[in-house]
Amino acid sequence: MSRHRIIVTRKLPESVESRLKSLFTVALNTSDVPFTQDKLSKAMAKADGVLCTFGDRMDADVLRASGGRSARIVANFGVGTNHIDLDVAGEEGIAVTNTPDVLDDSTADLAMALILNSTRRIWMQENRLRRGEWQGFDITSGLGSSLRGKTLGVIGMGRIGTALAVRAYFGFGMKVIYYNRSKVFAAAVPEARSVDSIDILMEMSDVISLHVPGHTENRHLIGAERLALMKPTAHLVNTSRGDVIDEAALIKALQNGEITGAGLDVFEQEPKVPAELLALENVTLLPHIGSATLETRIAMGMRAVDNLEAYFSGKTPLDMMV
Ligand code: DGY
Repeated sequence: MSRHRIIVTRKLPESVESRLKSLFTVALNTSDVPFTQDKLSKAMAKADGVLCTFGDRMDADVLRASGGRSARIVANFGVGTNHIDLDVAGEEGIAVTNTPDVLDDSTADLAMALILNSTRRIWMQENRLRRGEWQGFDITSGLGSSLRGKTLGVIGMGRIGTALAVRAYFGFGMKVIYYNRSKVFAAAVPEARSVDSIDILMEMSDVISLHVPGHTENRHLIGAERLALMKPTAHLVNTSRGDVIDEAALIKALQNGEITGAGLDVFEQEPKVPAELLALENVTLLPHIGSATLETRIAMGMRAVDNLEAYFSGKTPLDMMV
């Protein structure tokens, strides 16, 4: 294979960088400082391919900087491609790939961790201990709630939503209901029941977990009106994209005790987390780590390299978005 030039926008696991170097002429980002828009444009103008990730805003200006001559493929490290203007990529004839499947388990694990953290008040209790407020074992203070027999509502029953439902059903004895825009049959989760609307799911669930793409018509899918449908004892978990929830409305619901708790791995304006959320004890806040295990990050990187390798071998990459 001829040595195509690939520019990589962030530091990758070592084994992924080694494989890239064995296949291509690579410009790595060893400092891991995110690229500016200008630097992304220059990368598009210089390289045959750009390996980018969430946080790199591959907008129309950046994509058009390839000028029909340079970068012919944008290989995204990650499943979500909301940061890439797919329409413009299509117009410019730039291929876009992503890395699905390999992060399903890690992300579902983290959603389950957030569910446990919120329902068992783990973070809140740990803080109490760290503040030196623990006076010894007691029977009634700060009690959480059990998951067995409770209802998990999954919005977006794709690969990650299903992986979470499997964990909740088999591992924790939860009932599962789900809403998916197109009709799907969740064969992997016995007795899982599809509901006709998000509103019904909001009303029926004890725990709600979001697994839909962001920066689309899903923006503020969960706003004040839908939050008001939740049981006051319910919990909301988001490992998808921050803008799926109207953050201001969620803050009010948590401040007023309209719902019991939330677990957020993603935010509307990452990496900014509103001060009001930081001040609340009934929400667990994580820095977008859904796929952040070494094994998964290596698998994601290898998948991105597979896509580049296929593309430059004249094959259709496995994960072709455009
Ligand atoms: C994904 O793969 O979309 C993760 O959220 C990281 O971007």
